[in-house]
Amino acid sequence: MKITSAEFVISNSDVAKCPDNKLPEYAFIGRSNVGKSSLINMLMQRKNLAKTSGRPGKTQLINHFIINDNWYLVDLPGYGYARVSKSAKKVFQKFITQYFAKREQLVSAFVLIDCRHEPQNMDLDFMRWMGENQIPFSIIFTKADKLKPNAITRNIEAYQQKMLETWDEMPLYFITSSGKSLGRDEVLEYIDTINKELSTS
Ligand code: GTP
Ligand code: MG
Repeated sequence: MKITSAEFVISNSDVAKCPDNKLPEYAFIGRSNVGKSSLINMLMQRKNLAKTSGRPGKTQLINHFIINDNWYLVDLPGYGYARVSKSAKKVFQKFITQYFAKREQLVSAFVLIDCRHEPQNMDLDFMRWMGENQIPFSIIFTKADKLKPNAITRNIEAYQQKMLETWDEMPLYFITSSGKSLGRDEVLEYIDTINKELSTS
């Protein structure tokens, strides 16, 4: 898919105030610092469209971006951000949960996972919650530039094994690097295919 335009629309903490139209929407979620905002910039080939930082907790609101005037990308705060107070964490958690539970326009989410780490309960719990609530998602393994290819393969195999303890099959997954634009075509093709299906159905 060719990106012809990518514009910031609105930030807020209330799902009821998100854009009120029927355009298909794709959301990026995952632990703080996993690379959600960087991935959005990489996909859109725009340096500072979504705000990024080396310190966890940069994205604190639900951020809508309109792409090619016909679909939305959503940048969300991370879950499990350790450096805010417990009460702030609860507030984040609450509007993330409400976003996923209530946002009818959401077509699919991408759950981002740092490819360097072993499966973490926080991510596994979040994906279980998504499954229980029938919210479609695929996985994006991030920061692939930080590992050699065989280490990535090994880690993903370990992930797959862990997922299969509770899931019938491994969700669709992508391997990405925001610095190297790895995985860009695959993720955009996937979104494009769904958008085309939706527009003809
Ligand atoms: P929050 O908004 O805090 O939840 O974080 P986020 O998930 O949006 O992460 P963000 O995109 O802000 O990136 C966090 C840090 O990881 C930054 O220092 C990025 O430069 C770095 N980073 C993101 N993606 C990649 C990647 O693909 N490769 C490498 N090496 N670093 C990355
Ligand atoms: Mg962010």
